Amino acid sequence: MVLFVLELEWVLSTGQDKQFAWHCSESGQRLGCYRTSAVASGLQFDVETRHVFIGDHSGQVTILKLEQENCTLLTTFRGHTGKI
Ligand SMILES: *[C@@H]1O[C@H](CO)[C@@H](O)[C@H](O)[C@H]1NC(C)=O
Repeated sequence: MVLFVLELEWVLSTGQDKQFAWHCSESGQRLGCYRTSAVASGLQFDVETRHVFIGDHSGQVTILKLEQENCTLLTTFRGHTGKI
């Protein structure tokens, strides 16, 4: 999945490699990445808080806070027994 965040000029993406990554859409530079526990199947971003929500095939939702060049794991929700 791919999300473009106009306000920050970021492109957020997830792949079959279980990586979540974000890039600067102006420079093309990779700003950071995070390995999720399974292949992602849902992706949402809140511009104001810079929180990203990644649902995956293990049934987990990972919430990260993104900065310009790093990210912090805030929490994970494990409320599903099947794929999200
Ligand atoms: C993450 O990046 C922010 C802004 O770029 C910086 O202020 C902060 O110190 C960095 N945190 C770590 C853990 O490197």
